[in-house]
Amino acid sequence: MTTPQAAPQPAPAEQFEATIARNDRIEPRDWMPEAYRRTLVRQIAQHAHSEIIGMQPEGNWITRAPSLRRKSILLAKVQDEAGHGLYLYSACETLGVSRAELTDMLLTGRQKYSSIFNYPTLSYADVGTIGWLVDGAAICNQVPLCRTSYGPYGRAMIRICKEESFHQRQGYELLMTMMRGTAEQRRMVQESVDRFWWPSLMMFGPPDANSPNSERSMAWGIKRNGNDELRQRFVDMTVPQAEALGVTLPDPDLRWNEERGAHDFGEPDWSELSAVIKGEGPCNAQRLAHRRRAHEDGAWVREAATAFARRQAARSGEAGRGEAGRGEGAGK
Ligand SMILES: [Fe+2]
Ligand SMILES: [Fe+2]
Repeated sequence: MTTPQAAPQPAPAEQFEATIARNDRIEPRDWMPEAYRRTLVRQIAQHAHSEIIGMQPEGNWITRAPSLRRKSILLAKVQDEAGHGLYLYSACETLGVSRAELTDMLLTGRQKYSSIFNYPTLSYADVGTIGWLVDGAAICNQVPLCRTSYGPYGRAMIRICKEESFHQRQGYELLMTMMRGTAEQRRMVQESVDRFWWPSLMMFGPPDANSPNSERSMAWGIKRNGNDELRQRFVDMTVPQAEALGVTLPDPDLRWNEERGAHDFGEPDWSELSAVIKGEGPCNAQRLAHRRRAHEDGAWVREAATAFARRQAARSGEAGRGEAGRGEGAGK
């Protein structure tokens, strides 16, 4: 009898490279370079932390929403962000880290979250501006991530992006309502847009030339577009929306460039971005202190859930032994 010759298996590293080259997905049990795994853990964790910390600036306004309708919209939106954090922590756990470790990295400042959430929300118009500009920038960043090379991350992003579209629409609708209101409401919207415009542009990260990890992330198919390209896409998408709203974007250099078929715009203050990343933004300390307090307040829930799980496991162990015993008896 002859055994069929097994096809020679490609070495794991070659298999990984071939999967990336085919634009296919890498799955949790596939071999992957350690640096690929580490880059993903850092990026997905930072993304998850941003969703969770991002609940705070808007959560600040839930008790002061101007109507029941606005309150239910805002509640739904903030709850969506909690859900995004949970999908992303789960995706990150498939890379061999635990949720507890990730939370610890956030609380001790070893992992970051998006710098945008270190700015305060000073009026209800900020709820609209965050939806329009911040969720709008998040969409530009995240739609390409639906095609990222790591399967669990890409699949989580599909649902997240659908929900982010709702967030962007609700923000735009709120601002449009205010712009049709009183002069004071229009002033509030303009003041809010003036504060959030530049930090929103910074959400795409430093220019590609100063973004050392970008190139490798692109080669691995983790990132699909460069920071500058996505920032340009955001500006081009937002300018006509600002015109429709009747607000001015606070950039004297912003103008249509016929030759490029795109908008020219001014340079964000990169020293501000690096200061905020280093922890010197207006709300860094407050955001982390609040998150730490929430984590400590939730300790009893984690303890109760652990005790419950232990008891369930002990009970099913007892039941298993009981059934085995009956089985033996029946055989006699
Ligand atoms: Fe989100
Ligand atoms: Fe969102």
